[in-house]
Amino acid sequence: MQERVLGVAMNGVTGRMGYRQHLTRSVLAIRQAGGVPLPDGTRVIPEPVLVGRSAAKLREIADRHGIERWSTDLDAVLSDDSVEVYFDAQITTAREDAVRSAIAAGKHVYAEKPAAGTLSAALELAKLARDAGVCNGVVQDKLFLPGLLKLRRLVDSGFFGRVLSIRGEFGYWVFEGDWQEAQRPSWNYRAEDGGGIVLDMFPHWHYILEHLFGPVRAVTARAVTHIPERRDEQGAAYTATADDAAYALIELDGGVIAQINSSWSVRVDRDELVEFQVDGTEGSAVAGLRECRVQHRAVTPRAVWDPDAADTADYRSQWDRVPDNAEFANAFRAQWELFLSHVCAGTPFPYDLLSGARGLQMAEAGLRSSRSGNRVAIEEVGLS
Ligand SMILES: NC(=O)c1ccc[n+]([C@@H]2O[C@H](COP(=O)([O-])OP(=O)(O)OC[C@H]3O[C@@H](n4cnc5c(N)ncnc54)[C@H](O)[C@@H]3O)[C@@H](O)[C@H]2O)c1
Repeated sequence: MQERVLGVAMNGVTGRMGYRQHLTRSVLAIRQAGGVPLPDGTRVIPEPVLVGRSAAKLREIADRHGIERWSTDLDAVLSDDSVEVYFDAQITTAREDAVRSAIAAGKHVYAEKPAAGTLSAALELAKLARDAGVCNGVVQDKLFLPGLLKLRRLVDSGFFGRVLSIRGEFGYWVFEGDWQEAQRPSWNYRAEDGGGIVLDMFPHWHYILEHLFGPVRAVTARAVTHIPERRDEQGAAYTATADDAAYALIELDGGVIAQINSSWSVRVDRDELVEFQVDGTEGSAVAGLRECRVQHRAVTPRAVWDPDAADTADYRSQWDRVPDNAEFANAFRAQWELFLSHVCAGTPFPYDLLSGARGLQMAEAGLRSSRSGNRVAIEEVGLS
């Protein structure tokens, strides 16, 4: 059996996403499983080179996992020919410069979302990658979660008929940090550090809408900061300068209407932390991260509005669970496998920097709509 060892520089592995999802549950898990099989039977073994700012933290992670190579010198790692891929899970504001350097060094690039801090920066990166002829990708992990894979199966089967609308409800209470520690990093609540729920979550909503239902054409949104002051990792009070909730109406091709609420200031009364209800002429579905339930046109109960009579219908019991019919891998790992195969065998990978840029375009349009109170049309962006 042929093996191809692929050096992957991984920057930001001391962070939440970089360590848990990308290093341990993706790259190390893939190594442990003997690599990713390519169509010709060759197995790609990714070899991580940890990159970051703190030598002590990198050494500790490297020792814990038996990783040989780590460095605090990004330029030195990028000039190493055995490193072919650069991966970035740094804080969003640090991404653009590092990805730009990696492309200039001829590396294939894969990055967390958002692809950059602004649409213009993300488009610029997409152009640079195209001109350099390097493979490029952005993390769009939610597409690979069991609930959304089942939703995709429904879409592909034609289950919905004509899709009419999509309602997304995302959120949970993020502690302010005073009497209970916040469960998200404090930079998420500071605009000057790249925080904000619009910048964080609209890129996710965009790729879900784009890949499952079609292109986004317009956005009307209101972004707010419900909790004006929080406490950071050291317990010090700081002003929350970024939005922590956003209420959006998103118009897609063909008149499909999506409404998505995103909030870190909401208490959960749902089965999952995010749920999407899709209503179509032939049937409806509610998909979360893991589960997906459906109700077909033929079995839709006759609901009758009568506020004077007690309603005995148990509406939620009238839905059917979509079976798994497959084993689902970790969503980040599933996308890593596709990216590694794309780099080594040229297999398709539609989750590129340009798709990531369109996600930022929707985020910027949402923020502009919120400031102006207007509906913002989304013009098609391309790489000139
Ligand atoms: N795909 C997803 O579901 C998902 C979820 C959360 C976050 N993210 C994205 O992942 C990226 C990292 O988020 P996280 O939650 O892991 O953040 P984190 O704060 O836990 O980690 C940030 C990483 O960036 C590094 N870093 C580099 N320069 C820095 C600086 N100047 N200040 C602070 N840290 C710096 C840190 O050392 C650390 O390794 C963000 O771009 C975020 O948008 C994606």
